[in-house]
Amino acid sequence: MSENAITTVTVALAGRSYDIHIGQRLLTDGDRIASLVRGQQAIVVSNHTVAPLYLDALLVALGRIDCQVHVLPDGEQYKTLAHVADILDTALASNAARDVTFIALGGGVVGDMTGFAAACFMRGVAFVQVPTTLLAQVDSSVGGKTGVNHPRGKNLIGAFHQPVGVVIDTDTLSTLDPREYSAGLAEVIKYGAIMDLAFFEWLEANIEALRARDPEAVAYAVAQCCTLKARVVADDETEQGNRALLNFGHTFGHAVEAVTGYTTWLHGEAVAIGMRLAAQMSAIDADEQQRLVALLAAAGLPVAAPGLDADALLKAMGHDKKVLAGRIRLILLRSLGDAFVTDAYDDARLTQTLAAVGG
Ligand code: NAD
Ligand code: GLY
Repeated sequence: MSENAITTVTVALAGRSYDIHIGQRLLTDGDRIASLVRGQQAIVVSNHTVAPLYLDALLVALGRIDCQVHVLPDGEQYKTLAHVADILDTALASNAARDVTFIALGGGVVGDMTGFAAACFMRGVAFVQVPTTLLAQVDSSVGGKTGVNHPRGKNLIGAFHQPVGVVIDTDTLSTLDPREYSAGLAEVIKYGAIMDLAFFEWLEANIEALRARDPEAVAYAVAQCCTLKARVVADDETEQGNRALLNFGHTFGHAVEAVTGYTTWLHGEAVAIGMRLAAQMSAIDADEQQRLVALLAAAGLPVAAPGLDADALLKAMGHDKKVLAGRIRLILLRSLGDAFVTDAYDDARLTQTLAAVGG
């Protein structure tokens, strides 16, 4: 892909289909962004970290559109109903009508909250995702899962509400903290591990270029992940079946996050540890397990969390949203590039796997 190439991936959902535009300098591509706005008015939502970096460029690109800006505090702890209510207050105070478009400029937190606000406002208005973290570009901005956290758990309140478009300017990743960037790489590796062996092999060969944020490598990886996610979402929008495969490593990872009070590991780091555990639990060759562990480590990710209690982890896994009829469902691998959902696993093996969380 040349420096100025733009890739477009379509999420095929009949009347709600939309395009994901991926490339460099898209934030300043006024026509592309403005053409996604229905009507003449937009509510642009960002946060205190991202707004100083990219809000001006976005507002210039939106040119003729009447924009109201809502800037959220930065952090997962602000992903609450109260802060979504603040976004709705801004929309109401600006006399926004049903043809308003909400625009999310930021990472997954801003994207999930803005999408949820758009789902609620006047029973649902259009919204556009302009994701600025690697995690948001390869995962959260695509697929229409929106929502907020509750003191009882993460993402417990929300709605499926698809965006009308996603604009991914890969240049925005240049300002991302290295740890956040590696956390995004965990989700990138996930796609290869669960559904695309050739992509997994490409990642093995190109992980150094990706870590160095080589523009071509980044653009290819983001486009590949969006293509894979678009396929999954088009087949199973509301997660009745295969969309659950995208949670590979997440059930273990959520447990690691929960028992460490959400303070030790970033989500992507916990998912990396979780993917190592899920691979260990899977009936795959030791060589394949080792390849996954090596790729995660090469991406700057942890693969073990010393000092955690296996019983506490098991209990935390029991609180996962993926528990069905009291049984924890796991995403396991048949082989690299081929995952499946199951509740038919050996409980003793699960306990053994959790006991090995420390590495
Ligand atoms: P985040 O939104 O908290 O962003 C991480 C940090 O990077 C924040 O401090 C943010 O302000 C900062 N940041 C964002 N873009 C930046 C940039 N370009 N330069 C410098 N700093 C920047 O975290 P995240 O990892 O993007 O998203 C995590 C959230 O996404 C969680 O709430 C999770 O539940 C959600 N999520 C949703 C889905 C979905 O399908 N909807 C999927 C996965 C995760
Ligand atoms: N991040 C998982 C999903 O979108 O289904």
